[in-house]
Amino acid sequence: MSGGDSDTRVTNPRLSDPDRSDPRGAASPAASPAPDPATGGAALPPQPRDGASERAHEGQPHDGDARAGERRADGRAPAEGKERRIRASIRDALRDPDAEARPRAEDPGPAKGAIIELERVHLGFGDRTILEDVSFLAQRGETIAVVGESGTGKSTTLKLILRHLQPDSGRVYVDGEDISGLSFSEALRVRKRMGMVFQGAALFDSMSVYENVAYPLREHTDYDETEIERRVREKLEFVDLEPDRVMEQLPSELSGGMRKRVGVARAIANDPQIMLYDEPTSGLDPLTTGTITRLIMKLQRELGVTSIVVSHDIRSVFRMASYVAVLADKRIRFFGTPEEMAACDDRYIQDFLGGF
Ligand SMILES: Nc1ncnc2c1ncn2[C@@H]1O[C@H](COP(=O)(O)OP(=O)(O)OP(=O)(O)O)[C@@H](O)[C@H]1O
Ligand SMILES: [Mg+2]
Repeated sequence: MSGGDSDTRVTNPRLSDPDRSDPRGAASPAASPAPDPATGGAALPPQPRDGASERAHEGQPHDGDARAGERRADGRAPAEGKERRIRASIRDALRDPDAEARPRAEDPGPAKGAIIELERVHLGFGDRTILEDVSFLAQRGETIAVVGESGTGKSTTLKLILRHLQPDSGRVYVDGEDISGLSFSEALRVRKRMGMVFQGAALFDSMSVYENVAYPLREHTDYDETEIERRVREKLEFVDLEPDRVMEQLPSELSGGMRKRVGVARAIANDPQIMLYDEPTSGLDPLTTGTITRLIMKLQRELGVTSIVVSHDIRSVFRMASYVAVLADKRIRFFGTPEEMAACDDRYIQDFLGGF
């Protein structure tokens, strides 16, 4: 990346050149060199250990520029017109009056405005490395989709955010708090602010729908039964289930789509600011997939929830995601908007999209 050029945008100022400012926050494979600080959503080739890539800025040209990495390798300059557009958007960003207040590279700690942030996370099981220098973040109200081949560490990433796992090195921040070193009880406090929708809904089979949705309320609050019922009804209605029809049913009596919706109702019972979804649409027919996708979008739109969605379903990812993170070979291979991903000419990303 063009290190000393202050006329460039870098989106994770803590991990990058202090001369640069970040109008939008970062999703930065921190230990991955940026292909070009002004090209958001770039696919990241296998990389050495320092540098930063960056997150696309709204209004920045969406070139989905996988060629950035190649440019570095072969020394080709970016296309002239494109470079002009990029520089214009950088100048606009630098005029932002908030720029001075932004964190600088030397500041430790989480990026401003980030609700969830992974910073240079390494994690292995035994001698097998699963995640290496993984960094990305979600700002308030964003939906970040994490995609990748099976076994690349997507569910592991959610477990890190839930603090079910701790990174070997690097940090995980939730709303500015480093959760990596929290004790079990402190982790519970943080977890209360999150709702998790597990793959396959993971409802308690022997409990009624009512008891499933009431479960986190009984666990984490001292609401009386009247308040619990009020909330259970409210959440079931939010996910478009009729409380009086389903409350007494067992999960086995529901369709797959209904079970998923009950899973979402249970996850939102405590009004979490953060929702984590692991394959929320897997195994569902296209229509029900659409229903669940709209539900995730509704949570974001109406309640301002910040979401991390692990999914194999590119169609629904493209509908709901603010940004897509592609995990491949232990690292973030790509981070950018769906538009950038579609336009990205990195071979791996194109193969991954499979002609979508
Ligand atoms: N507790 C664990 N102990 C040892 N290895 C683990 C553990 N949890 C996960 N792994 C391994 O880490 C790798 C990543 O697992 P993870 O479940 O995060 O993959 P994933 O991307 O979610 O895959 P899928 O798309 O199949 O759900 C896998 O190879 C898995 O076998
Ligand atoms: Mg998984």
